[in-house]
Formats: sequence, C-alpha cells, structure tokens
Amino acid sequence: MGRGKNIPRSFLADNPLAVKAEGIYIYDEAGKDYIDGCSGALVSNLGHGVKEIIDDLCRQMQTLEFAHPSRWNHQASEEAVELIGELTPGDLNYCWFVSGGSEAVESAIKMARQYFVERDGSESTKHKLISRFCSYHGATLGGMSVGGSTNRVQTYQPLLTPSAKLPATYFYRKPDGLTDEEFGAGCADALETEILNLGPENVLAFLAEPIVGSAGGAIVPDDNYWPRIRQICDKYDVLLIADEVMTGFGRTGKAFGVDHWEVIPDIIASAKGMAAGYIPTGGIFVKEKIIEAIKQGSGGFIHGHTYNANPLSCRAVASVLNYINKNKIIENVYDNGKVLGRGLEAIAKESPYIGDVRGKGYMWAMEIVADKDSKQPFGAGKKATAKAMAACLDNGMIVYPGGCRINGVDTNIVLIAPPLVTTEDEVMKLLDRLDASFKQFGRDIAA
Ligand SMILES: Cc1ncc(COP(=O)(O)O)c(C=O)c1O
Repeated sequence: MGRGKNIPRSFLADNPLAVKAEGIYIYDEAGKDYIDGCSGALVSNLGHGVKEIIDDLCRQMQTLEFAHPSRWNHQASEEAVELIGELTPGDLNYCWFVSGGSEAVESAIKMARQYFVERDGSESTKHKLISRFCSYHGATLGGMSVGGSTNRVQTYQPLLTPSAKLPATYFYRKPDGLTDEEFGAGCADALETEILNLGPENVLAFLAEPIVGSAGGAIVPDDNYWPRIRQICDKYDVLLIADEVMTGFGRTGKAFGVDHWEVIPDIIASAKGMAAGYIPTGGIFVKEKIIEAIKQGSGGFIHGHTYNANPLSCRAVASVLNYINKNKIIENVYDNGKVLGRGLEAIAKESPYIGDVRGKGYMWAMEIVADKDSKQPFGAGKKATAKAMAACLDNGMIVYPGGCRINGVDTNIVLIAPPLVTTEDEVMKLLDRLDASFKQFGRDIAA
C-alpha cells in the first residue's frame, strides 16, 4: 500500500494543471486562458462545456447508465445510428460502436477478415493488409502493425505483424524531378503493384487516412488519388478501409474526409469527434454487402468489448450529431477553414522557419524547417517541435505535435485544428496568438 501516482505521458514534461474549459478556451490554475487550437487531439470538436450535451448525458446517466449489448438494445444506440447513417457515404449504414480510435481500427480489420471467411469459407487466404508510411492507426498491436510512423513503433517492432507500406502523397517531400501529378499517380499505382506482388488472393484490405493526421501532418492527396485507389481495390477484390478517426464528423469541412473525392470505402473507422470528447467512443461504419454476408453466414460479428455500444457513449454521439446538424457546424468549417488556411499561409510567409502549410477545413499543419530552400529539418537535437509548442503555450495557444521519418529525415510538424465551432473572429484571435508564437520561436531557436 502506498500513495497512488499517475504515470504521465512523459516524466520529462511538466504540464500545467487544467482547471476549467469553456468554448474554445482551457484555463490553468492562474486563470490564464489558452486557445485549444488543436481540440485536445482533434477531439473536442464542439469546444468545451456545451450545456445541452452535458444535460443529455446526465439524463442518460440517470435513466440507463449501462446495459450489455449481448442482451439489450436501447434507445440511445438507435438514435445514434440513425444520425450516423445520415452522414456516412453510400450504403455504409451499419455501425458497430467501440470506445476509441484504436479499437475502431482493430474492429475494421477483423470485420474485413470475417467478411471474406463468411463469403468464401474459412479456407479464404485473404489476410494481408496494405497501408502507408507516415500514417498512424492507433496504439494497439494491430494498429501499430499497419501504422507507418516508425518512431512511434520502433520499441514494439518484434511484437508486430509485418505489413506492406506504401508512400503517402507527401508532395512537399516528393522525389526531385516529378510533378505533383506524376508523384500522386505513382503513389496510387503503388497499390496495384503491391497487390500483385502479394497475390490478390492474399490481400484483405488497404487501410489509410483520407487526409493524414499527426503522423504526416495534414497531408492532402491530389484529386485523382482516392478515386484511383477505389478502382484498384475493386479490380482485385480488396476492401478499402478509411481511417477517419481524425477526419470524421466534419473536421475537414465535409462529413468525412473521403467525401472530398466522393469515394465510398467499404469500412470507415472513426472516433474522436464522434462524441467530441464528452465521452470516449468510436465506431466502424460498414457497407451493407459485408453485413449481409455475416447475416446470411454465422449470424454475428465474432468480436466484442465490454463497453461496445454502451448507452452513455451512444447518447453522447446522438447529442453531438444533433448539435452539429442544428448549428450547421460542418458548413462553418467549410467556410472559415479557408480563412484559417489563408491566415496560416500569411504567417508562414513571414517566418523563415515554416516551410509548408497544408490542410483542409479545420485540419492544418505547419512544417518547421531550418532552411526553406533546402527543406532541411532542424534535427533532433534542436527540439524544434517542442520549442514551437512551448512558444505557443507562452502565448496562450495549444497546438498538436506531429511528424514522421521520411527519406532518412525526421520532420517537425505542428497541427492547427481548433474546435469546429470556432467562429471567424476566434480564428483571427488564434492567428494573432500563433503569429506571436512563431516570432518567439524564431528568437528561441536562434538563441
Ligand atoms: C488516424 C488515427 N487512427 C487511429 C487513432 C487511434 O485512436 P485512439 O487514440 O482513440 O485509440 C488515432 C489517434 O490519434 C488517429 O489519429
């Protein structure tokens, strides 16, 4: 027996104590306000302290706080799936709830495998996954196996299942001599090459983020990429899984990231903004043909977690989606996202250290470099991302760190992704604080 202690994310960091949060602001002990410029981890999409969501959750808590999905249905999940079905593309009308993004990715992978077993029998050889470098799919063993963020998985490598990785459409660091169009086409065609290499009969699914989150830094593909990926998957009977854990539910100015290219995946994995941080949740949204195969076959998804479809999570999803619809939140992101993007580009133009600005809606990244012409990063010793974040904190602004290893270099990225409710005036305030932060960063890094 002894005094309980937290295991913090890092024993090397000394985080401030958050005591209150309201709207787009978080407050520390001294009463200083910080703009939540990354919605926590692109989670708090509706900002903090939304009373009607809290009230809905309290009512749910008082009425039915838990009922196990193996024995009960409940109103909260019925309401949540109805609202999800109105947002998901095509016939991805079936939803399986989980408690977070990693569970969503694991569930999507298992669902894909079960589909082929139901359809073709247990002798189906389809089991190999293809994903991409500079991507993140969660902290569990399955998610890390398909994740391409080498610095996050290195320690655990011996535990992971090897899976094929393709390049992401990282245009800022594309090979010399290629146009964006040529590079983008090559990234898509690499999928066909890899499927043929592994044997189409062995390939289960291609899994990728429509717009890469923190591991690459808001990497947006060209307009041909996702439609071509869909074509290739169809040609070889490979399922397309979109990891929309970050991009889902309005983050990029459309309901889902794939909607920018009108591509319909077979399964979407999502979480984060789905309940906007009011409670842990996630889910997979699945095409009817997959569920039909299960219905006609074994009769149930061979999977389950204790908190799958729990009433509180489902209530939070229903409440968040009602709020998004009623207040036209996705439209706000679509319009004001352009204002945010233009403002970030203006800051980058003035700074000798911001080499690239990219993103969509309210999901943007700034890539920090030592030299804009050569695109050379600072190198690990300079701790550029940590210094940029510290400067932001000093100026009352929170950003999200990111980066990956590509062509032998470690990139420095910060994500700017405010709550989707952020107004145009608040965007201006955020830009002022960010501008001051990068000016301070310039002084700090030069010191
Ligand atoms: C694209 C993507 N997939 C999966 C995950 C894992 O989600 P969670 O941290 O909720 O398990 C994340 C988390 O950041 C993510 O960004």
